[in-house]
Amino acid sequence: MQFAGSHILSISQFERADVEQLFTVADAMRPYAHRERITRVLNGAILGSMFFEPSTRTRISFGSAFNLLGGEVRETTGFEHSAIAKGESLYDTARVLSGYSDIIVMRHPDDGSVSEFAAASRVPVINGGDGANEHPSQALLDLYTIRSELAGRQRALDGLRIAMVGDLRFGRTVHSLSKLLSLFQGLRISLVSPEALSMPEAVVETLREAGHEVLETDVLETGIADVDIVYSTRIQEERFASPEEADLYRGRFRLNQSVYTANCEPNTVIMHPLPRDSREGARELDIDLNDNPNLAIFRQSDNGVLVRMALFVLILDVADQVDQHSVPVNWYTERRF
Ligand code: CP
Repeated sequence: MQFAGSHILSISQFERADVEQLFTVADAMRPYAHRERITRVLNGAILGSMFFEPSTRTRISFGSAFNLLGGEVRETTGFEHSAIAKGESLYDTARVLSGYSDIIVMRHPDDGSVSEFAAASRVPVINGGDGANEHPSQALLDLYTIRSELAGRQRALDGLRIAMVGDLRFGRTVHSLSKLLSLFQGLRISLVSPEALSMPEAVVETLREAGHEVLETDVLETGIADVDIVYSTRIQEERFASPEEADLYRGRFRLNQSVYTANCEPNTVIMHPLPRDSREGARELDIDLNDNPNLAIFRQSDNGVLVRMALFVLILDVADQVDQHSVPVNWYTERRF
């Protein structure tokens, strides 16, 4: 694909070479994300950030990534704070917002809505999550994290063994991640969910057509044995007809330290797109794993800034100018990674 000027709407746009290019640029963003250097390569540029569903990581890390590149962020959150609440269409909203911004990130509860918006936008649009459909930047940061965690274990992406656990029906991150994994070779993928929340058949077919071995099970202990990565997900309560319906599945698969010790290989990496549901009845990823060095969830969320910076500089076509616009940092920056 050509990054410059492109919308990022689905992982289906990516070839393996695009992913590798993005990761090389993300690696180069590390000194800036870690506040060792400042760059002003996007000085004067404006990110329009529109989040019509709750978000902590995606919204703030996209905004931070843009700020770290020297750009400014204008945002609206929730329909109630937007003229969409007065009946304005996505088409009109896109025409207007793209007159105020150089690039737009949008999250919306409806499948396909970000593509509809992008079709009317005059500037590139990045999908920050559209309903249960896709969350492409999350999948990219997930794979970037997998690559980094595996490198420390002398393992490669080809031949990866991964378990995805939880709400695979409504979890858009696992849909995008599966499409991304289909670009690699010789994977063994274990899909652990209640039958009613199983991975959409089209996504499973994509994995099988890529030649991957796919196991579907509703037994957690079977699914998480013999894997390199356990990728846990929250029950997506907001996609159910009622919280009571979600309660039928919440807490069904709980990964805690004793389940991990009894079933996982010693160095199995634990991931989760977050937020994890830490309420009593849920706890798909228990807080008693917080001191487990294989828990990668906060390294994963940190990587969101690197990957999103890389997307911005590639789409806005300044990847080769980042260092020319850099200066040292002059405030206290020490942080514990
Ligand atoms: N992973 C993710 O999309 O988190 P937020 O909902 O907080 O953005």
